[in-house]
Amino acid sequence: MVTNAPPFPDTADAPARCYALIPCAGSGSRAGTAQPKQYQRVAGARLIDHTVNALLGVPALAGVGVVVAPDDVAYTSPDARVRVWHVGGATRAHSVFNGLLALQGAGARPQDWVLVHDAARCLLRPAEVEALIDSCIEDPVGGLLAVPVPDTLKKADAGGRAHQTVDRADVWQAQTPQMFRVSTLWSALEAQSAEGFAGITDEASAVERTGLTPRLVRGSVQNFKVTYPEDFALAEAVLQSRRPSTQREDTE
Ligand code: CTP
Ligand code: MG
Repeated sequence: MVTNAPPFPDTADAPARCYALIPCAGSGSRAGTAQPKQYQRVAGARLIDHTVNALLGVPALAGVGVVVAPDDVAYTSPDARVRVWHVGGATRAHSVFNGLLALQGAGARPQDWVLVHDAARCLLRPAEVEALIDSCIEDPVGGLLAVPVPDTLKKADAGGRAHQTVDRADVWQAQTPQMFRVSTLWSALEAQSAEGFAGITDEASAVERTGLTPRLVRGSVQNFKVTYPEDFALAEAVLQSRRPSTQREDTE
């Protein structure tokens, strides 16, 4: 069900606009929390609230769509630039695909840009989003924030022993946001829908399968995805470290 929220403002003759789309319909099974991890509180707010606030700090974004599970009533926003769509699917890719349909229903056009960003990446900063937009807005394909892998990489055998070292010279760790034209991402995902989006773990992986090569835009290691139980304390520490010392809180 898509909520009956009004569409984004119609500026049909405007040049390409940018929208953010946040998949927020996962269960957070690796995080070990009682409720989905996006609703855990760190540094005084829920992960999803930190994430949406970072995106609302980007004036170039015309709107922010949040994709939650069909039965999820935990997220609402009073902000006029935010829409909540209850169309989450079984996988992240399915949630993004459904959200992209809702975004188009809300007025996004094929030539507009969509920046897909994980709800669980609550350390994102507006400057990183702006750097991505600046790097991709003239790009024929689009791109994503990523960081070069700093560690030596090992391949494990069935017994959990290292049997090969992988050349990391050209290996990057993909983050989000990932920024593509609505038409590019829609057709890339649509082509994978019959296969149940198998192997599609981010937007770039779907776009790559069409033969296009997304631009890698260097981001920050602080923009990690809260995934495991220990990540909450790390997120808390990073968020607290960004505050003026007078506003720092005790860990909740
Ligand atoms: N997500 C989603 N719909 C799904 C699965 C994931 O919208 N069916 C969202 C999550 O809410 C999260 C983002 O995609 O913001 C990245 O996914 P991930 O970190 O894997 O979150 P979960 O799938 O919730 O966690 P886990 O894989 O540990 O269960
Ligand atoms: Mg997952």
